[in-house]
Amino acid sequence: MGFKYLMILLLLPSILCSRKEPLKLDRKSKIHKNHAILSIHSEDGDIIDCIDIYKQPAFDHPALKDHKIQMSPSQSHEDVAVQRETARGSRATVTSQLWHKNGSCPKGTVPIRRAKDMHLPNYERKKAMFSRHNHSIGQHWLRPNYALGILHTEGYAYIGGKADMVVQYPKVELDDEYSTSRVSLKTGPYYDFEAMEAGWQVNPTVYGDRKTRLFVYWTIDAANKTGCFDVTCPGFVQTSSEIALGAVIYPIAEPNDLPYQITVFIYRDPYTGNWWMQYGEQTNIGYWPPELFLRIRNQAETVQWGGEVHSKRVGVTPHTATAMGSGQWPIHMFHNSGMMTRMRVLLGNVLKFPDWAFEYADEYRCYDVEYVSDYVYDPEFYFGGPGRSYGCP
Ligand SMILES: *[C@@H]1O[C@H](CO)[C@@H](O)[C@H](O)[C@H]1NC(C)=O
Ligand SMILES: *[C@@H]1O[C@H](CO)[C@@H](O)[C@H](O)[C@H]1NC(C)=O
Ligand SMILES: *[C@@H]1O[C@H](CO)[C@@H](O)[C@H](O)[C@H]1NC(C)=O
Repeated sequence: MGFKYLMILLLLPSILCSRKEPLKLDRKSKIHKNHAILSIHSEDGDIIDCIDIYKQPAFDHPALKDHKIQMSPSQSHEDVAVQRETARGSRATVTSQLWHKNGSCPKGTVPIRRAKDMHLPNYERKKAMFSRHNHSIGQHWLRPNYALGILHTEGYAYIGGKADMVVQYPKVELDDEYSTSRVSLKTGPYYDFEAMEAGWQVNPTVYGDRKTRLFVYWTIDAANKTGCFDVTCPGFVQTSSEIALGAVIYPIAEPNDLPYQITVFIYRDPYTGNWWMQYGEQTNIGYWPPELFLRIRNQAETVQWGGEVHSKRVGVTPHTATAMGSGQWPIHMFHNSGMMTRMRVLLGNVLKFPDWAFEYADEYRCYDVEYVSDYVYDPEFYFGGPGRSYGCP
């Protein structure tokens, strides 16, 4: 606990320092349904458009005008770390998607989830990380719009980050709030970082419902003006014809079943410099070309695992009741909170557990963390909580 207080003291002054409100952008993702070679109507209401791989949204990005598609990664990585014991009953890893019941995308195309008409500005972006707020003596402060419950490592030149994460269905209270579980690679300070992320999220504004969906995200300015989820803005180049970003994670675990897990791995291709996103152990969904980035082009400064809740109602009373993880407190014996295992960093050619890592929670009375690293073969990270509750009014 002492260490957590220390981290909060270290991070808080910097979080409060001045930062401008982001400008509203009028950039809208182009509607690609006219390019679709085939449109698949899924039972869950999603429409998946199969788009010619060379006409996908990524290539609307000015830096990618002459980009040459890399169809598959140059090499694969062996996990040299100890395999985790399965004594606790191994969770099934999922990579299937519901829309496959109703068809599949032909060779040479990529499946793109059709965005719902949200008529909201910037719906595809992350919410601004900070918001303006009046101090009692009339000063204007900027307050973070998010709460983290993470495991953090830094100190090396990371070229990859990976984890198994349990799939959960957190309550999201308001439509403009969201809850994610993700692996995040970052470079730069909290107010001006470049990042790539992958994992699952419940995000009503982006997807129009409260289902748990696979996502990727990137930014080069701490979510101020650039970047977005999935392929809702140009940037991420998709190569897989199997997996649609933003699709619902399926099957859904029934109560009393063992939960499902997904595996995500972001890693840099040593020959092309593309940052690949691998789903499960086999499927490479696509990549972020290095041209999108400046500082995170060749390596990341930090790798983080864990949960993030975005809401204007963090750090205030009444607090948001949007949950992190499953909404349960992280108590490792119960195994019912947000959970990550087999956390790895890629250093050179070696995929391994980081030499050191620390856990951190912005608001431990609302969302807490538990890091189990002693006397286990492979460390485990538990995170989450209900948000508004007895200790978090
Ligand atoms: C965010 O973008 C606006 C508009 O370009 C800029 O004025 C502001 O300084 C940016 N903020 C940060 C922290 O980069
Ligand atoms: C999708 O496939 C399922 C199972 O084959 C079928 O029951 C359903 O009607 C199909 N849905 C649509 C929208 O075509
Ligand atoms: C902050 O205070 C100013 C004037 O002191 C007022 O105009 C503004 O509406 C207040 N903003 C909020 C969010 O309370």
